[in-house]
Order: sequence, then C-alpha cells, then structure tokens
Amino acid sequence: MIKNLLLVICAVGLFVAAMQREHTYGVNPSSTQGLADSVDAETGLALDPNFTIVKAQCTGCHSPKLILQHRFTRDEWLSKIRWMQRNHKLWDLGETEKTVLDYLAKHYAPNQAAYSRREALRNVKWYKLEK
Ligand code: HEC
Repeated sequence: MIKNLLLVICAVGLFVAAMQREHTYGVNPSSTQGLADSVDAETGLALDPNFTIVKAQCTGCHSPKLILQHRFTRDEWLSKIRWMQRNHKLWDLGETEKTVLDYLAKHYAPNQAAYSRREALRNVKWYKLEK
C-alpha cells in the first residue's frame, strides 16, 4: 500500500519535472559553459549587455541552437546575416547590426570550440610513485 503511494508520488514528480523542461529549448546550459560567465537558461545564449538585442533579432525564426552550433569570424557572421537576408527574409538589422556582430564575434568566434577539450596541461611536475 505504502509502496504504491510512493510510486505514485515519484511518477507525479517526474511528470512535473518533465513538463517544466519543455519550456526550455532543450539546450543544456552546461554544454556552453566556459564561453561566457553565464548563459541564459531559456536560449543557452551567452549573457551580456547585448544579449537582449540578439535574442530579439536572432531567435524569432529558428532555435538559438543554430547560433550555438556555429563558430564564425565577424566577417563570416556578417555573410551569414547577408545570406539570410537574401534567402530567408531576414530584415535589415539597421543600427543593431553592429551590436549583433560584436556579440557574435565575441562569444561565438572560431577559437571557442563548441565542445572543445580542455587545453593541454603545461608545466606538469611529475613525481614517482612510491612502492
Ligand atoms: C527571418 C527569419 C530569420 C531570422 C530573424 C534569423 N534567421 Fe538565421 N536562419 C533563417 C533560416 C530560414 C535559416 C536556415 C535554417 C535551416 O537551414 O534549417 C537560418 C540559418 C541560420 C544559421 C545556420 C547557417 C548555416 O550555415 O547553416 C545561423 C548560424 C543563423 N541562422 C544565425 C542567425 C543569427 C545570428 C540571426 C540574428 C541576426 C538570425 N539567424 C536571424 C532565418 C532567420
């Protein structure tokens, strides 16, 4: 009897937890850690003062994952924007274009691999294991 009750409580708990997850884009914030001090829980995008503008301009048509998955130089980001403007009805970003490019080049540049290994250790001091 008690066992069944516990099972029901667990099931309800899992269900509620699953429902809450659906509100995010399914981005695992820990996978983007190390690129920025903090990331937005909803989009996974790096938090900085330009975040809101980028979120407004860049997450309306597609998942922010499309941004998170890529690493481009500033010029390459610009050509992606032009490409979307030519082919996918992206609007003229106007004055925000520079802000958006600053943000993208800062957080999603090629040297910041999406899923990189840690840097090799330097100045390692080896020691002998005692018997
Ligand atoms: C008007 C709609 C729209 C907006 C707004 C938009 N995009 Fe896109 N974007 C698209 C479409 C459509 C694609 C192609 C999606 C696909 O291939 O599934 C795309 C693809 C991409 C890609 C993948 C490119 C590739 O080479 O595969 C990136 C990166 C991207 N967008 C970044 C951005 C950024 C950064 C912004 C903000 C400046 C932005 N998008 C705003 C429509 C948009």
